[in-house]
Amino acid sequence: MKLTDMTSAAFKAKKDAELKDAILNGIKVDRGGTTVVMSPYKDELTPEQADALVAYVRTFGVKKAKKAKKKRVPDAGVIAPAPTPVR
Ligand code: HEM
Repeated sequence: MKLTDMTSAAFKAKKDAELKDAILNGIKVDRGGTTVVMSPYKDELTPEQADALVAYVRTFGVKKAKKAKKKRVPDAGVIAPAPTPVR
C-alpha cells in the first residue's frame, strides 16, 4: 500500500486540523488510480490523544540534533485507553 511520506514537505505543509481530521474521521485518497483508505479512530481516541498524535507525526523526519533542542511532546508515544464514549 502506498502511503503518504510523513517526512515530506507536502505533508509538513498540511494544517494540524487536516491531520487531526484524518486521524479521527478517517481519510480516503486516490493514489495513482487506487483508492486508499484509513479508518476513523474517533471511537478509540479522545480529541486530546489525536492532538498528541498530530504532534507526534510532526516529529517524523526531524533531524535528531534539531529534535534534541525541541521540547518533547509529553506522552505523544504513550496512548492511554480512551474513556468509554458517552452517547
Ligand atoms: C494511530 C495511528 C495512525 C495515525 C496517527 C495516522 C495518521 C494519519 C494521518 C495524519 C493521515 C493524513 C495524511 C495526509 O493528510 O496526507 C493518514 C492517512 C492515511 N492513513 Fe493513517 N494513521 C494511523 C493509522 C493507520 C492505519 C492502521 C492505516 C492502515 C491500515 C492507515 C492508513 C492510512 C491511509 C491509507 C491514509 C491515506 C493515504 C495517504 O495519505 O497516503 N493509517 N494517517
